Amino acid sequence: MSSRGIVLLGAPGAGKGTQAVLLAKKLGVPHISTGDMLRAAVAAQSPVGLKAKAVMDAGQLVSDEIVIGIAEERLKADDAADGFILDGFPRTLGQAEALDRLLEGIGLRIDCCLAITVDTEGIVKRLLKRAEIEGRADDNEATIRERMRVYAVETEPLLGYYAARSLVREVPGMDSVPEVSDAMVAALEAA
Ligand code: AP5
Repeated sequence: MSSRGIVLLGAPGAGKGTQAVLLAKKLGVPHISTGDMLRAAVAAQSPVGLKAKAVMDAGQLVSDEIVIGIAEERLKADDAADGFILDGFPRTLGQAEALDRLLEGIGLRIDCCLAITVDTEGIVKRLLKRAEIEGRADDNEATIRERMRVYAVETEPLLGYYAARSLVREVPGMDSVPEVSDAMVAALEAA
């Protein structure tokens, strides 16, 4: 399996972060999560974090301008030159188009979009369970459902954006973590 540019798509709680960590290890490429980077900025109370906190706590999307800036800086780092796994970015059509322009400018591209399919009530349960363990500020039921609504409106259309280039591979996400991981590797090998 060669290294390449991979986008993970999936609703909140679909398992993007969990699977990205495993896949990044297998492929030896960086896992790039805008959610993790934004949470780090919030924790550090940086200017970006101060702007993003209330938006994230409400389950809304941080502005394209901020997120594209963060992603651009990260993707230009040397370790992304041989491949990368994007988790939680792009999330809007504007972000997807900006990402394509950015990658073209640095001689990279998206080779595959792995779309994790899940059932909504199952992932609400997963996230409520995580709330008990980790206490993430946006893991309460009202905010989880708002994140899912935002995903359906803003992010799901990206499936069409990447399908138009035949880049989408669907992976069922309700099986165990190792089973989903195996399915992702198989989907990548077949891509
Ligand atoms: P982000 O951090 O990207 O959150 P999300 O998309 O809501 O996704 P989650 O992290 O909740 O879920 P996941 O799919 O990664 O699943 P995970 O592996 O964690 O974004 C947070 C916020 O930041 C956004 O709402 C927005 O405000 C902002 N933001 C981020 N990126 C942005 C962007 N590009 N543009 C604008 N705003 C942006 O798993 C979830 C739980 O399930 C875990 O407890 C895990 O252990 C468990 N689990 C995983 N897989 C399985 C399995 N197969 N079986 C059982 N349990 C499982």
